[in-house]
Amino acid sequence: MATGIETAGLTDLQRQIVDLARDFARTHIEPHAAEWDRTKHFARDVIDEMGKLGFLGMVTPEEYDGMGLDTVTYLLALEEIAAADASIAVSMSIHNAIPTTMLVKHGTEAQKERWLKPMARGEILAGFALSEPDAGSDAAGLRAQAVRDGDGWVLNGAKAWATNGGTADLMMIMVRTDTPTARRGAKGISTFIVPTDTPGYRPGKPEDKMGLRASNTAAIALEELRLPAAALLGEEGMGFVYAMEGLDAGRLGIAIQAVGIARRALEHAVAYCVERKQFGKPIREFEAVQFKLADMATRVEAARALAHAAAVRKDRSDSVSQMASMAKLLASETAMWVTTQAVQLFGGYGYMRDFPVEKLFRDAKVTEIYEGTSEIQRIVIARSLYSRA
Ligand code: CAA
Repeated sequence: MATGIETAGLTDLQRQIVDLARDFARTHIEPHAAEWDRTKHFARDVIDEMGKLGFLGMVTPEEYDGMGLDTVTYLLALEEIAAADASIAVSMSIHNAIPTTMLVKHGTEAQKERWLKPMARGEILAGFALSEPDAGSDAAGLRAQAVRDGDGWVLNGAKAWATNGGTADLMMIMVRTDTPTARRGAKGISTFIVPTDTPGYRPGKPEDKMGLRASNTAAIALEELRLPAAALLGEEGMGFVYAMEGLDAGRLGIAIQAVGIARRALEHAVAYCVERKQFGKPIREFEAVQFKLADMATRVEAARALAHAAAVRKDRSDSVSQMASMAKLLASETAMWVTTQAVQLFGGYGYMRDFPVEKLFRDAKVTEIYEGTSEIQRIVIARSLYSRA
């Protein structure tokens, strides 16, 4: 396909996985996506089916019941899901990237056995909670607090905008473990593994969002939430670093989610410009239309290429922060730009909910905001430049 993933250079395994993801997406996701968007329906049954196919353990090592795939192959599958519905894609992305990375890198063998294996098998859906009402971009400014209680901990505080906050089975939650009299900034934050049926875990009602309306986003109140010592991930005081490492992986997923949105808008736009006639001929024959489509296609390819390059780098070494931010920045701004052009090409129809580009346009916007705004990505990129200077 001229606008989709170029499969010629893929390995046999990658081609099989792209085919599997595309067939699943076109059969079980895309036909329902508009309705789920209208009704804000969280399709847990579909995510469970994806889990059975291995899509929730794509990069988890095989010894922990995952598929043990490389990051490019995972991104190839995720793009297919995102092209069908970005709401489903965000669950797949966060689960595979953030809680999975945290547990693979820092979990004890007991934590991996208890949580990572069922996550990889798709029996548990996991998310993470970092942001708070007063701590978004300034994530280290978070205030939720854990205090020691014998061997265990008691958590109190408020989290905001957590994907799957109301629908996940397990959340990795960042809270302060320093004390009010001896604040340690980013070093005063720890990560806890929290089953969402723990008393004191109280998700708010699903947020009423502009886009990604079929994904669950919720505030979470932590009220006297008691956890055993075994719920602490890794080292006390390292939670901010674990969150940043998770976000390095997560931002690649959001980059490819944005590519999937942009590519689908391009595919719809090409099909429309072939069919739509004005002034006695298909509008694709107008140069103004051709130039727009050409620029859209070029930007989609560039965004995908950068995301894949970052994925290759991630699998070679751990220093992927700068490239992950570059990939997310380029892809999210591409998604917003491409979907805007698609709406324009569709004209009046593009502004109507009955046509698919309106949803893609709304879904694109959040990719410039969550897992770090475009401004935060630019800060991460610029800081890496200084650190090398
Ligand atoms: N990997 C490992 N360690 C990292 C790191 C990384 N990528 N980034 C920072 N660190 C370490 C630093 O080295 C530092 O440790 P040392 O002091 O030992 O050197 C420590 O973490 C603190 O780092 P900074 O001083 O850089 O921290 P900062 O307060 O200046 O913040 C920031 C940096 C980039 C602005 C960061 O706060 C950030 O990324 N903010 C955006 C947060 C974000 O993306 N939130 C999205 C939430 S999730 C979501 O969107 C909802 C959802 O469910 C999808």
